[in-house]
Amino acid sequence: MMIAPANNIRYYSLARQAMVEALLLAGIGRGDHVLIPELICKDVVASIHTTGATPIFYSVDEFLNPINLEMNRPVAAIIAVNYFGFPQNLEIFQQACEKFGAVLIEDNAHGFLSSDSSNLSLGTRGDIGIVSIRKSLRIPDGAQLIVNSTELSKNIPNQLPYIHAPLGVRFNTQRLILDIQKHLHLPLLKWMRSLVRLFRRIKTGSHLPTSASSAEYENIISSGPRDSSMEQISRLDVSNESKRRVRLYNSVSESVLHCNIRPIFDVLPPHCIPYGFAFYGSHEAATEVQRLVSKLGVEAIHWPDLPESVVATAPFHYRNLWVVNFL
Ligand SMILES: Cc1ncc(COP(=O)(O)O)c(C=O)c1O
Repeated sequence: MMIAPANNIRYYSLARQAMVEALLLAGIGRGDHVLIPELICKDVVASIHTTGATPIFYSVDEFLNPINLEMNRPVAAIIAVNYFGFPQNLEIFQQACEKFGAVLIEDNAHGFLSSDSSNLSLGTRGDIGIVSIRKSLRIPDGAQLIVNSTELSKNIPNQLPYIHAPLGVRFNTQRLILDIQKHLHLPLLKWMRSLVRLFRRIKTGSHLPTSASSAEYENIISSGPRDSSMEQISRLDVSNESKRRVRLYNSVSESVLHCNIRPIFDVLPPHCIPYGFAFYGSHEAATEVQRLVSKLGVEAIHWPDLPESVVATAPFHYRNLWVVNFL
């Protein structure tokens, strides 16, 4: 059964497209300023540039809370990020939005299925929310725009048609490998990932995926998701997937207890469904984590590919952040 979007929800291929639509819905365009954390990937910056607006960066501390949202100029929208599915405290953002008459956009790209301690679904707490479902499920696309403000929901864009296309070779191959792996008890996916990393290192000089500096100026064009991805989303067993993620969080936490790293979050808050296990550490420490968690079938990745204007002055905690991804 295909998902029919609720009145206040629209589906897109990518969350960066949902972000463009959120900004446009908020009336943002050329001449406007949008407040965004420095700790962010280039794709979100591209969403702001696509509307013609200018990003203004705020810094975040080691616990990923904003340090200061006091600005010397008005901003039209403020983006708050629920990093790795952990709920951001929105109070300070709401106060800043009231001061400027700005729209609060809750970037919940990482937090599909996650809620805050009052059991409010992440992505439903700001004026507008976005979710990147494809980051939590093995599907090539799928993202949500959630319009929570009654006023703004009057102008929500029409749902773009779903694209009639299969999941694709890469995704089907990964699934097949996972199925075979279950029967053979061999770490096939790990071997495949090592191969991909080797090819990437030969091609780009680094085993980590990188994006061009121009990525933050890419003009983003919205499209609907594939019908095949939407079907996978509708088939998801939410309860099982949530339990799997919480179990993995606990297993990874235990496995890396003696590594020379610092987990970003001390505890998993109630109702939080984590995107992964996030930590600070050197490259060597992350390699050791990778070695330990690979038996759980998960992978440590470096995040994020910082915007160019942030890289030059990025503190240690922006540059040495890793996440064990629970895909
Ligand atoms: C915090 C955050 N927001 C938005 C996005 C964009 O998501 P998508 O890749 O689905 O466009 C990302 C991508 O990494 C992200 O990390």
